Amino acid sequence: EPVAAEAVPGQFISMYTNDGAKLLPRPISLCEIDKEKGALRVVYRVTGEKTGTKQFSQMKAGDSLEVMGPLGNGFPLKSKKAFLIGGGIGIPPMLELAKQLNCEKQIILGYRNSDMFLLDEFKKQGEVYIATEDGSVGTKGNVMDAIRENALEADVIYACGPKPMLRAIKVYALEKGIPCWVSMEERMACGIGACLGCVCQSTETDAHSHVHNKRVCKDGPVFRSTEVEL
Ligand code: FAD
Ligand code: FES
Repeated sequence: EPVAAEAVPGQFISMYTNDGAKLLPRPISLCEIDKEKGALRVVYRVTGEKTGTKQFSQMKAGDSLEVMGPLGNGFPLKSKKAFLIGGGIGIPPMLELAKQLNCEKQIILGYRNSDMFLLDEFKKQGEVYIATEDGSVGTKGNVMDAIRENALEADVIYACGPKPMLRAIKVYALEKGIPCWVSMEERMACGIGACLGCVCQSTETDAHSHVHNKRVCKDGPVFRSTEVEL
């Protein structure tokens, strides 16, 4: 697949359902990129009955579907000692990043409960710290609680997850004065920069249109935390 050959960590693909009725593709982050086999791995949460993700989950090995990608910008791979922080469905893209990032890695994962997907694979990539909302494993609370409880330090932060989590990480990065890259998993429509269905508020105005907007699909999904309003 040419998609795998070009892909970098932090990018996503748009996946089409086979029923034709749902025209909009679903954006899903790349969890692993295997350039030799030309294969991509995606890990997603089924959001409900009669949803696109439910349809994907009913496919069998060998079935095919249409994808568009790789899309978006990806993470810059430059750090000496990094935090890789994933929350919920923001966890999968951290795996390929962990594999490609050549530095000391502290991986902080926020789960709801003891259903800890991908955990063993992350343990092969660096030191792993866990936070669970129900306190069943690791630190009770969120990823910031785990960082404080373990007195962790880093010189760069990479994060993907729900907005409240990204907001807290942005504040922490400002306090510590360290660069922070966040990947936003906003709702999207076209996925290629044309519809403005995915815009987020930016701190600086756009050079062309002079508005405080950035398109997550085209300008992101990875942004410097200081570039965007969270
Ligand atoms: P729909 O029928 O469209 O909606 C069903 C329910 O899901 C609704 O309640 C709706 O509000 C909710 N929902 C829809 N979109 C989102 C969203 N973006 N975030 C949260 N809730 C949503 N999901 C993964 O599981 N794994 C990934 O690796 C992943 N990567 C993503 C990367 C990017 C760049 C973006 C923008 C999103 C990513 N998502 C990921 C979220 C995923 O795209 C949505 O969950 C999916 O499109 C929902 O489609 P659906 O047809 O299943 O649900
Ligand atoms: Fe259409 Fe981003 S989803 S511009």
